Amino acid sequence: MRAFLCTAGSESALVDEIARAGRPGKVAQLAPGVVALDGADSADGAKHDDDPDPVFARQTLPGAIAVEGASVRALAETIFAAIDDPVDGWPGPFLLHALTHAEPPPGLGSRAALIAREVLALLDGRRRRAFRRHRSSDDLAAPFDDRCLLVQLLALTRERFLVSVAAPRPLPTGGFDLARWPGGDAPVATDRAPPSRAYQKLEEAFCWLEAAPRAGEVCVDLGAAPGGWTATALKRGARVVAVDRAPVALSLARHPHLSMTIGNAFTYAPTAPVDWLLCDVVCEPQRSLALVDSWLSGGLCRNLVVTVKFKGRDGYGALDALPPIFARVRPAFARVKQLAHNKNEVTVMVRKAEAPSKMI
Ligand SMILES: C[S@@+](CC[C@H](N)C(=O)[O-])C[C@H]1O[C@@H](n2cnc3c(N)ncnc32)[C@H](O)[C@@H]1O
Repeated sequence: MRAFLCTAGSESALVDEIARAGRPGKVAQLAPGVVALDGADSADGAKHDDDPDPVFARQTLPGAIAVEGASVRALAETIFAAIDDPVDGWPGPFLLHALTHAEPPPGLGSRAALIAREVLALLDGRRRRAFRRHRSSDDLAAPFDDRCLLVQLLALTRERFLVSVAAPRPLPTGGFDLARWPGGDAPVATDRAPPSRAYQKLEEAFCWLEAAPRAGEVCVDLGAAPGGWTATALKRGARVVAVDRAPVALSLARHPHLSMTIGNAFTYAPTAPVDWLLCDVVCEPQRSLALVDSWLSGGLCRNLVVTVKFKGRDGYGALDALPPIFARVRPAFARVKQLAHNKNEVTVMVRKAEAPSKMI
């Protein structure tokens, strides 16, 4: 089976999304934040190249198999037996992620970590050459691509785990089908300076994009107030044009690299292309999607991060407007994800390949 990890509460959106993609097999929720497509993938995870990169999944477990064991030792042995051949036969580095479902009871996280340590100890004892290729998932500077092997152990209960072993595959829309961070949750450092916690979802988007505004680049931040996103761009040395009906927080207002425009995000247009469009306006999904289309198709920005917000659990079908836009504009990276810091919203992330523009 192929398992997908999502935010708790988004399982039905993910089930619908996978079902709408028309894949053969039965799709169902296995646990909070875990959805599985039965009948997909061989057990070694080899066949996951038709992965649909669902919006509501941040991580995929290709070729996942369910294993059971009553004790730590029994589970570790069963998991070792399941991963031994692919890990031992893999020429490059491997990573091991110990995970739980999205609403774990107390102790399940430490149980998963313990089993992972036991499995590594078995590898160390029995497959020393393979064990030496183990890389820590904390090493974010290490390359993560199709030369790596990702082993994922997901605790569904204390006795029942999903096990997946697969290499990340490049996606036509940029990036890889597997996320490098455990469970697909990119690490976001706590920062007390920004005037709102909204900065967290922007930082998370920068991780996915593997890019962020650089010193001297120009960002337009639509719906900027109170200024979490603006603060995030300013702290990197970017120049920011903040547009909102309300002013940003006083702590930012006098920043020398900030220009505040009080006005309507939907009628604002830059006088020349900018490096980044950032947009977190609260509005109907169609308005945010139209904004993505007009800024990308009009060549007004090189990169963008735009949130699309929903009321209730309906209306996600509006996102079908995005793939044709990406197909037309053909950016180097174009993905849409419900990030860990998104509530009932998703984030559109685009990075074009062209050289930076320094004008506005
Ligand atoms: C979720 S808040 C943005 C939070 C911001 N990203 C931050 O990091 O602090 C949404 C903002 O969109 C603004 N907004 C809503 N409709 C707008 C419009 N048509 N034009 C400009 N701003 C708008 C609101 O005033 C509000 O400040």
